[in-house]
Amino acid sequence: MRKIEFMLIENDFIYKGNSGKIEKLSFQWSSPSNIALVKYWGKKENQLPANPSISFTLNNCKTITKMDIERRFDGNFTFELLFEGKPKPEFNHKINQFFLRIEKYCLYINDFHFVIDTQNTFPHSSGIASSASGMAAMAMNIMSLEKALHPEMTDDYFYQKASFLARLGSGSACRSIKGSVVVWGKHSEIMGSSDLFGVEFSSKIHDNFKNYQDTILLVDKGEKQVSSTVGHDLMHNHPFAEKRFEQAQHNLSSIKKVLENGDLETFINIVESEALTLHAMMMTSMPYFILMKPNTLEIINKIWKFRKEKNIPICFTLDAGANVHVLYPENVRGEVLQFIQQELVGYCQNGNYICDEIGTGSIQML
Ligand code: PMV
Repeated sequence: MRKIEFMLIENDFIYKGNSGKIEKLSFQWSSPSNIALVKYWGKKENQLPANPSISFTLNNCKTITKMDIERRFDGNFTFELLFEGKPKPEFNHKINQFFLRIEKYCLYINDFHFVIDTQNTFPHSSGIASSASGMAAMAMNIMSLEKALHPEMTDDYFYQKASFLARLGSGSACRSIKGSVVVWGKHSEIMGSSDLFGVEFSSKIHDNFKNYQDTILLVDKGEKQVSSTVGHDLMHNHPFAEKRFEQAQHNLSSIKKVLENGDLETFINIVESEALTLHAMMMTSMPYFILMKPNTLEIINKIWKFRKEKNIPICFTLDAGANVHVLYPENVRGEVLQFIQQELVGYCQNGNYICDEIGTGSIQML
């Protein structure tokens, strides 16, 4: 018998109940960052991706966010934002925008005041984007409130709506909710995949990728000259956009097979090509821009040399910045860390790097 797939559509995420009788509640969630293997770059309206993407969830780079929620009767949501326990007015705009974007789907927020206390496990201004982990942690807390209003909610719905809400905050945040490998964006070979939310990669992942390592080399900790929002926008009318979106579809098909069969050589080819293509899109936008730094290229060349000489399957990927993510299997950890310490640390700002690995997703702490 054919299995009928039940797909949620946007309207299914509109909460239809009222805000109940809850007066006061507190939650706390920790949400990880993620690193894309096939990159999301370019979006349609309403934070929908122009192409599907897939990422490894990280384990150590996380945002921990506590929300104290109290009923108020002013008809509009209100909030206070604390970063590491102190007010941080610079973040208010992003949080306000998040609440405004989710309001249609979570009307109950207008009956509450939120005190949001957030912190990252990675150093502030390390050049590591905190928007994915930060927005994922916001979404998890909001879903805990919704679950308190509607306790019959299924776990599947809880996580799908959390991912849906996180996406409205920052696209890639929808991949920081649940699972070690997450796909976001409709793809014909990935069952249940959707542009609306991320889904856990459902195939059995080959042992080669178990505990896969990601050492993040902090090349430039400064503020990016061009934000992701502007970069995504520049994919409209980009001369290579359509081909790029097709290529991402194709690369996702290929990497799906690789994650199942453990073919590390093909993994390396796809992942490095994706990273360079992302930056090629930036360099061929109008206006054009470059986020890599000279040390980014030095590191890439050293990685290629080391891989060739030692025959060790390490590779690099980049997100929208100058930092380099070095990806490798757990069984070569010793040799790779030695190589990083001896040959790559000199290219990092103040010699800083972060050791991370594949994690499993958001965790409730309170
Ligand atoms: O989620 P955003 O809007 O910050 O975009 C992130 C895009 C990349 O990190 C460059 C790629 C990706 O898929 O994560």
